[in-house]
Amino acid sequence: MAGLGVNIDHVATIRQARRTVEPDPVWAAVEAELGGADCITFHLRKDRRHINDRDARLLKQTVRGKLNMEMSLDEEIVQIALELKPHQVSLVPENRQEITTEGGLDVVAHAERMADVTRRLADVGVLVSAFVDPVPEQILASSAAGCHAIELHTGTYANATLPLDGSNPVQAEIDRTIEDLATGLKAGLDAGLIVHGGHGLTYQNVKPIAAIEGFDEFNIGHSIIARAVFAGLQDAVAEMKNLISLAIVE
Ligand code: PXP
Repeated sequence: MAGLGVNIDHVATIRQARRTVEPDPVWAAVEAELGGADCITFHLRKDRRHINDRDARLLKQTVRGKLNMEMSLDEEIVQIALELKPHQVSLVPENRQEITTEGGLDVVAHAERMADVTRRLADVGVLVSAFVDPVPEQILASSAAGCHAIELHTGTYANATLPLDGSNPVQAEIDRTIEDLATGLKAGLDAGLIVHGGHGLTYQNVKPIAAIEGFDEFNIGHSIIARAVFAGLQDAVAEMKNLISLAIVE
């Protein structure tokens, strides 16, 4: 059964809307773990738009399970990760204009830098995952760069289930994106990689992806925090974990 990583950046985004001290993403991490989260994921962006250095430090001291730091290949952030030593880093592309991470990392284009950063992090005991589109060349390049894991970008699937332009979902398009993810999963496993998935997954669309055997973990943020506004974070996390764990059995 795949685990659940809860992305708590969205709690920090609410805090930063008022430049105040609440809600605290570190508190959110504790609530998420009490709700059954297997992993806490945070993204320390170069522009510190949500999570900041204080959060990263306290998360490291507070989180009892796995801590996953999303980050770009920027050297300042690499240095912080080398000192912080989370269990895992997820290398992602970062673009100042974006609302959230757009598209997977182009590991083929950044092969040399990826190999360098991965080696330095592995040397201090940090697992390295690359956030990639379900494209075989990117998956093989991640393996060649020394990554231990990949996170397959589920955003294309998510957009097919809830088209951004408000049009009705097309089942054939959804099926095609599921097939791409299944093929990517197989390519990752065949290359000896741990395979995670994430981005845009919701209570409504997670099941068909969670039903594919072989994923190690799903990283989910926005949908869980959105539900937590009404249900509380512990319950929101427990509900998502339940959906994931039942998906393969059903
Ligand atoms: N995985 C990665 C690499 C991400 O960048 C994000 C968004 O921060 C997520 C998963 C979670 O996406 P969402 O908030 O849409 O669930």
